[in-house]
Amino acid sequence: MDAPKAGASNHWDAGETLADRFRVHVGNAQHLYGYAVREVIGAHVDEMHAALAVPPQTNEVGRSAALLAGLFDLVVASGVRRIRLLEVGASAGLNLLLDHYAYRGDSWQFGFTDSKIQFVDSIEGPVQPEHFMITSRAGCDLHPVDATTADGRLLLTSFVWPFDLDRHQRLSLALAIAAVHPVRIDRAPASRWLRYALTDEPDGLPVVWHSITQMYWPSDEVTAVEGILSCYGAQHRLGEVSLEFNPDSPRGAKPELRTRLWDPGSGRPIRERRLGTAHDHGIPVTLTAS
Ligand SMILES: C[S@@+](CC[C@H](N)C(=O)[O-])C[C@H]1O[C@@H](n2cnc3c(N)ncnc32)[C@H](O)[C@@H]1O
Repeated sequence: MDAPKAGASNHWDAGETLADRFRVHVGNAQHLYGYAVREVIGAHVDEMHAALAVPPQTNEVGRSAALLAGLFDLVVASGVRRIRLLEVGASAGLNLLLDHYAYRGDSWQFGFTDSKIQFVDSIEGPVQPEHFMITSRAGCDLHPVDATTADGRLLLTSFVWPFDLDRHQRLSLALAIAAVHPVRIDRAPASRWLRYALTDEPDGLPVVWHSITQMYWPSDEVTAVEGILSCYGAQHRLGEVSLEFNPDSPRGAKPELRTRLWDPGSGRPIRERRLGTAHDHGIPVTLTAS
């Protein structure tokens, strides 16, 4: 990639230029920042402000490895192997497709063995693998992205750092899978959506899953979601898997992988586990709980 000539930036089309530059050349990261991004931003300040007004749409499939470890935990605890997966803050919903990806450790595997996305040894620590199936999946987001459109794919790609080659590859493979197995993501805040997504279907364990989204929620949203989960969980079996930054942890701490299980039928209203931590982008997941 050549460095742009001085004074040439105003002739560039921003979308085309950033897309071209973000096709990733590791050795040229300096050029990317030194020339392309700086000049394109300068020429498109209003568009940049508008883009920054919404939370980032980093739909990172590495986080599905954390989701998987959480689901293993809930299956062990509940004995239920049919999972209704409900994701809030799902972006394009790529993590809802975890059973289309392959995960392998020393003595276990899960998912679609021949998947183009292979997570090998991505979960460290005491994995307790369990067989389960996802019977339905659905999600919501304040600003859902449609991964089946060119614009949606470009938007998601724009949120991956140009030098993160593995993540770019994983995202493009996940987008190809999502094109064949599209998931519906409703446009709604978490609390409004959960009110109707948590239904009384008798079949399976509903599991609410969320990753790296709560930090963008206003406090009344956090309170409202908590109220909905407790209220539903007081009457029904319900699971939750979360990978979120703990607001009480010191700056720089990793996101925490937690599960909760409401099981009024067993006389136990709630079981809570902190299973471990994960990288911001999901892998590696480090399990610490016994
Ligand atoms: C960093 S992305 C994470 C996406 C996905 N959970 C993942 O881990 O790949 C944060 C997402 O949370 C969404 N979001 C923020 N506030 C929300 C809310 N109150 N209800 C639902 N989604 C929300 C944003 O629109 C964005 O898509």
